[in-house]
Amino acid sequence: MSQLNPASIPLSLYIHMPWCVRKCPYCDFNSHAVPDGQLSMDLEQQYLAALVADFETQVGMAQGRTIHSVFIGGGTPSLISAKGYQWLFDQLKGLLAFDENCEITLEANPGTVEHDPFKDYLAVGINRLSLGVQSFDSEHLQRLGRIHSANNALDAIQQARQAGFERVNVDLMHGLPQQSLEQALNDLKLAVEQGATHISWYQLTIEPNTVFFRTQPVLPQDEVLEEIQAQGEAYLKANGYINYEVSAWRKEKPSAHNLNYWQFGDYLAIGAGAHGKVTRPDGIYRFQKTRLPKDYLAKVPAEHGQMKRIEAEELPFEFMMNALRLNNGVNSEFYAQRTGLELNDLDATLKQLREKKLLIADVNRIACTEQGHIFLNSVLEAFL
Ligand SMILES: C[S@@+](CC[C@H](N)C(=O)[O-])C[C@H]1O[C@@H](n2cnc3c(N)ncnc32)[C@H](O)[C@@H]1O
Ligand code: SF4
Repeated sequence: MSQLNPASIPLSLYIHMPWCVRKCPYCDFNSHAVPDGQLSMDLEQQYLAALVADFETQVGMAQGRTIHSVFIGGGTPSLISAKGYQWLFDQLKGLLAFDENCEITLEANPGTVEHDPFKDYLAVGINRLSLGVQSFDSEHLQRLGRIHSANNALDAIQQARQAGFERVNVDLMHGLPQQSLEQALNDLKLAVEQGATHISWYQLTIEPNTVFFRTQPVLPQDEVLEEIQAQGEAYLKANGYINYEVSAWRKEKPSAHNLNYWQFGDYLAIGAGAHGKVTRPDGIYRFQKTRLPKDYLAKVPAEHGQMKRIEAEELPFEFMMNALRLNNGVNSEFYAQRTGLELNDLDATLKQLREKKLLIADVNRIACTEQGHIFLNSVLEAFL
C-alpha cells in the first residue's frame, strides 16, 4: 500500500440529529421519539454543545482541509431551530472553515416544518432541503405511521420553493403495503409537478428491529414491484430526471455530499451514532459514535467510539461498493488516490467482469454496464 495524501481527498461533514416526533414502523435508522413530540430548548442547546465538543476532537483529522459539504440527517433535523443551526455553524466554522460554496443539506419532515419557516433555515446558510415525503397518498401515509398528511407534503415543497430554496430533494418510497402501480406512479407525478429538483426513490425494505418486521404488512407482488420500477424509471426519464445512482434522480446538480460518499471521499461525523471515514498518510480509518442520545450526551467525546483501520484486503470491496452505485462510475484515478492500492492488482477480476459484459474499466473510468447494475451484488462479490 503506498502513502496516501489526504489533501487530495474531499472532506465532508455529517451531522446526526437523533430525534423524531414518533418512530415510523418501517424505520431502522438511529432515531428516537422525543417525549411530547417537541424538543425542549434545553435539550437542543445541550445537544448542540455536545456536537461542537465532538467536532473539536475531529478537527485534527482534517489535516489542513476545509469542509466541502455538510449533511444534517436524522432522525428529524427540522426539530432543531434555525437559530440553533446559526449558533452551531458559527462554532463549527470557528474551528474549521467551510468551503465558499459549501453545500449544506437539511433533512426536513413535512410534519415538523411549522416550527420555523423555511426562509429562516435558508438565512442561516442551509442551501439544500431534503423533504421526507414518502408518499402523497393519505392512506399510505397513515399505514407508514407518518405524522404528516398528503397536503402537508405538497405544501412543504411549495413553501420550500417559495422561501427561495433552489435545491429541493423529495424522498419517496415505493412498494408500499397494498400499493398499486397507479398509486406509486401518482406519487412520482406529484413530486415532479411540485417541482422537486431531485428525487430519492427507494423501494421499501423490511428491516429487522422494526414494527414492520414483527408484524409484516402485505407488500405488492413481485410482478407489481417490477412494473413500478420499470414504469417509474421511464416516467422520471421522460420528465428530464437523470438517474445517477441506484435510487437518486436529479434535475439539477447531484448531491455533492452523497457523491463524496460514493466516490470514496472522507467525512467527519458528529452526533449520536454518526459514522465517519478519514484518510491518514498511513491508512484509512472508520469510526462510529455511541448510538443512544443519552449516552452521547453523558460521555466525553473521547469515549464516543474507537477509530478502526480498514485493512488493505477490505479496500477493493469497500471502494467498489460505493463507486459502482454510480451510474457513470468513477474516475479510474480515484482508486489509487483513495485506497493507496494499484488498480493493476485487480486486473484479473476486472478482465473477468469485462468479459461477462458487467463492467467497464479502462484508464479513464470504472463503471458497471447496464447489465452490471442489474447484477450489482454479484459484481461486488468478485471484489471480496
Ligand atoms: C434517514 S431517513 C430520514 C428522513 C426523515 N426523517 C423523514 O423520514 O422524513 C431517509 C430516508 O430513507 C428512506 N427510508 C427509511 N426507511 C426505509 C426503508 N425501510 N425502506 C426504504 N427506504 C427507507 C425514507 O425515504 C427516508 O426519507
Ligand atoms: S421520521 Fe424519518 S428518521 Fe424518524 S422514524 Fe420516521 S423515517 Fe425514521
